[in-house]
Amino acid sequence: MVQPGDFGPFDGRAWLNCAQQGPLPRLAVQEAQRAIAEKIAPARMAEDEFQRVPRRLKQALAHFIGARPEAIVLGNSTSYGLQKIANGLDWRDGDEALVVRGDFPASVLPWYTIERRGAKVRFIQPSGPALAAAEVEAALTPRTRVVCATWVNSFNGWTLDLEAVGRVCRRCGALLVLNAAQAIGARPFQIAGDGAEAPADAVVACGYKWLCGPYATGFAWISPRLLDQLTPDQVNWGAMQQGRTLDQMRDFELRSDLGAVALDVFCTGHFQSFAPWAAAVEYLGQFGSRAIADYDQQLVERFAAGLDSRRYSLLSPRQGDARSTLIVISHRERARNPGLHQQLAAEGVDISLREGNLRLSPHLYNTASEIDRALDLLHRLA
Ligand SMILES: Cc1ncc(COP(=O)(O)O)c(C=O)c1O
Repeated sequence: MVQPGDFGPFDGRAWLNCAQQGPLPRLAVQEAQRAIAEKIAPARMAEDEFQRVPRRLKQALAHFIGARPEAIVLGNSTSYGLQKIANGLDWRDGDEALVVRGDFPASVLPWYTIERRGAKVRFIQPSGPALAAAEVEAALTPRTRVVCATWVNSFNGWTLDLEAVGRVCRRCGALLVLNAAQAIGARPFQIAGDGAEAPADAVVACGYKWLCGPYATGFAWISPRLLDQLTPDQVNWGAMQQGRTLDQMRDFELRSDLGAVALDVFCTGHFQSFAPWAAAVEYLGQFGSRAIADYDQQLVERFAAGLDSRRYSLLSPRQGDARSTLIVISHRERARNPGLHQQLAAEGVDISLREGNLRLSPHLYNTASEIDRALDLLHRLA
């Protein structure tokens, strides 16, 4: 799949830390260099670059997840998309948003602002490592407008059963907003048609992890059902100009017929970040999310099978659908984890320390020998 030179050079290090930051593929580096060269001498820049870059990026993202480009909102983070949804719904007194206790802050904090508008945020307390559909069902009330949950948990690597949670929300008339920051790019995911049957009403992710884009990138896919209920909390003049040329700038009006594009972050022709990100997503799109996920899972399996369970416990799932590309382990003496994290870094193996545990997150540019190198070190240092 990945050819030598497609990524890196990594300076001899094993970057097993995609859950924190994905590296740029070479094709994206070339786009970034081109964007900088054009900015050095702007005459090199085509005048329609402002429209071309977001169009290309939306097409690449839409192709990767099987969606329509018109349903994609471009942002600078996961938080951006979640925020636009929380702010754009017409909350009424007594409405509520359900969020998950212990979830990543980006999935919870955007909803707090709805309390200024008479609505309430309520927490579901999961009883296990992943939120269960039955727990969502038990927590839903007729006033629940939205359930916001994270697909792959950043701290323990567990994956929620999206189909089952989606079914419960749909049955009860609640919108499901999914934080897929640790999933899109590494899990197979396809939306069919306009997404009316998709398990979630919104799928939101950043671009700088599993989609291998620059930092400060993100997107949201929004279902037609949710889009109908959103009023943008902003007026984006660039979006209002859709279908017009740059010499018609003073001929403007406030339009409400724009759909998802009205929610885009300002300056979507962000050449230095959105052009390389488009190239990165096109690169991943050549393989498709299924093939990437299969490869990633081989690496995860190799690690899990090779880990010495007398010295380390595996906290993320050993197998099955709940397993993700985030492998979370702990030394049997938990207090040793911070030291091990530092020792691994000193030996050229980069992983994360999260909530006191060790988190490895391999992706398509990693190799079986890098997994073995991490295992050897972990066992030697233990
Ligand atoms: C589940 C989850 N959501 C969101 C983010 C990042 O949020 P943002 O894209 O808003 O920076 C992370 C980053 O670690 C994450 O793990």
